[in-house]
Amino acid sequence: MILHSDLLPTGRGDADPWWMNAVLYQIYPRSFQDSDGDGVGDLQGIVRRLEYLAQLGVDIVWISPIYRSPQADNGYDISDYRDIDPLFGDLETFDALVARAHELGMRIVMDLVVNHTSVEHPWFVESATGPDSARRDWYYWRDPRPGAVPGTPGAEPSNWESFFGGSAWEYDPASGQYYLHLFAREQPDLNWENPEVRDAVYDMMNWWLDRGVDGFRVDAIDVISKRPGLPDGGPARAPFGVGHECFADGPRLHDFLQEMHERTFARHPGSFTVGEASNASPESALLFCDPDRRECTLLIPCEPVSLGQKTGKFSPRTLAAGELADVMSTWQEALGERGWNALYLENHDQPRAVSRFGDPHGAWYESATALATAYFLQRGTPFIYQGQEIGMLGGHFTRPSDFRDVESLNYLSAHPGEGVPAGLAAISRDNGRTPMQWDSSPAAGFTSGTPWIDLPPSASSIHVERQLADASSVLAFYRALIDARHRVPALTSGSFRRVDAGDPGLFVYVRSSEGSEVLVMTNLSGRAITPRGVFFDEDLSPSRWALYLGNMASPIDSSEAEAGDPLPSSTMAPWEARVYLR
Ligand code: BGC
Ligand code: MG
Repeated sequence: MILHSDLLPTGRGDADPWWMNAVLYQIYPRSFQDSDGDGVGDLQGIVRRLEYLAQLGVDIVWISPIYRSPQADNGYDISDYRDIDPLFGDLETFDALVARAHELGMRIVMDLVVNHTSVEHPWFVESATGPDSARRDWYYWRDPRPGAVPGTPGAEPSNWESFFGGSAWEYDPASGQYYLHLFAREQPDLNWENPEVRDAVYDMMNWWLDRGVDGFRVDAIDVISKRPGLPDGGPARAPFGVGHECFADGPRLHDFLQEMHERTFARHPGSFTVGEASNASPESALLFCDPDRRECTLLIPCEPVSLGQKTGKFSPRTLAAGELADVMSTWQEALGERGWNALYLENHDQPRAVSRFGDPHGAWYESATALATAYFLQRGTPFIYQGQEIGMLGGHFTRPSDFRDVESLNYLSAHPGEGVPAGLAAISRDNGRTPMQWDSSPAAGFTSGTPWIDLPPSASSIHVERQLADASSVLAFYRALIDARHRVPALTSGSFRRVDAGDPGLFVYVRSSEGSEVLVMTNLSGRAITPRGVFFDEDLSPSRWALYLGNMASPIDSSEAEAGDPLPSSTMAPWEARVYLR
């Protein structure tokens, strides 16, 4: 690793609004740090690790759901929005966590899951008592298809498929009606058309904002408005199932988001909202995040991480050279100077980036750092998913009993007798949910008990303790990227311009603002490639750049630094990454 920190401006630069030079870290609480030996991470565990995050340079911590929940979808099925699940702790510990994070200069963002609740939420329990319930209309209850035998295949009110496989409708023999669940059957969809539902949601959001949380990551936000009449959908458009066009980007979606903004975030100046929109496209993205529209601070697009799933989620295909870079650039160009999005390669729904887009065996370090460089310095807010900063790899799932995730379990039961299909092992959400690897002890320092899901074999060599002691580690590299985001003006508000370097394996871009420029060069392939063409352009002339960061061993000692540093026009080794400043 080559690092010339002396090239950075001293101290943190200005940013207005504040999040423009912030870095976000996502915690999946179940797998971050256990403190009581039950094998499941908890709030006390997070508190213990807050200093680690502060030292890394994290500004915002997003915590996946910790509310009271039967855990059918690991907390994305909430039975009480105003309490903490005992698995994770209690409100008092949560308040202490927020207070400590604030002391350390970090903000806390909660996950907000309001497309659906748990079947155990009192609202649904009441709604399910029968057609006369005062809360019947808080959810989508519908009669069977006329003429069909209720409860048999084909009798569902529409042909919509759940994101997790199978029909999106569940039959309730007691009332003879079905309820809608776009996700698991334990996650009934709230009816956002009902103003009482929206009032209840906004009240709850304000309750948390008043309590001191700094914002929300709004889960599955683009499916809250359903097409009137809930009609049958046309043929599936992979990776989505049948009916997706009838509930994604529905007719009242943006009215609801604007109302939510006005009733909650607008009353809490400086609060931060991240909308997760699986269907958003470069064309629709600005509708969510153009500041004048007052909806979300930023958008989580899903297209870059859904790459290669075009023939169905669990039948991935190999990506073509340059495909990832092309999609990322399309989003950058579409958002331009107005939009703002989440930059990310991993989260709790995705496999580990190195396992998926890199070379985990032949070039683990190089591909982890090259992928990091490629996404982290674009325009937007970089998200780091726990463990990504040490280059964690995916799980090692060989038996059906190794899986925990509801989506993976549904898939296994729909494909009995097939063992563990390779596509499932590669793409299962469990890949990103293995415990955080803190040290070399048997459960990687995550728990003193038995972890709720197995650690991969790579845990013994990839862990925080080792990387903290190594000035060239993946962790040290991330820290250098974070420092640059905090201090270099072009990385705060600068424009993004992709540069054609003559080969699809190279992803090269320039960020510019007045008086500050950054040239990012990455080779996202396993071949050595010499950049072509562009560097003869006077504007990018090699001699005018200073190398700040690189992921190859330093070829020089510091006294010869300037003369020996590789120039932008020199051949890039497989998975090489360089960051130049001027
Ligand atoms: C979350 C998933 C969750 C789903 C349903 C998402 O997009 O990220 O983890 O299963 O919403 O709440
Ligand atoms: Mg615990």
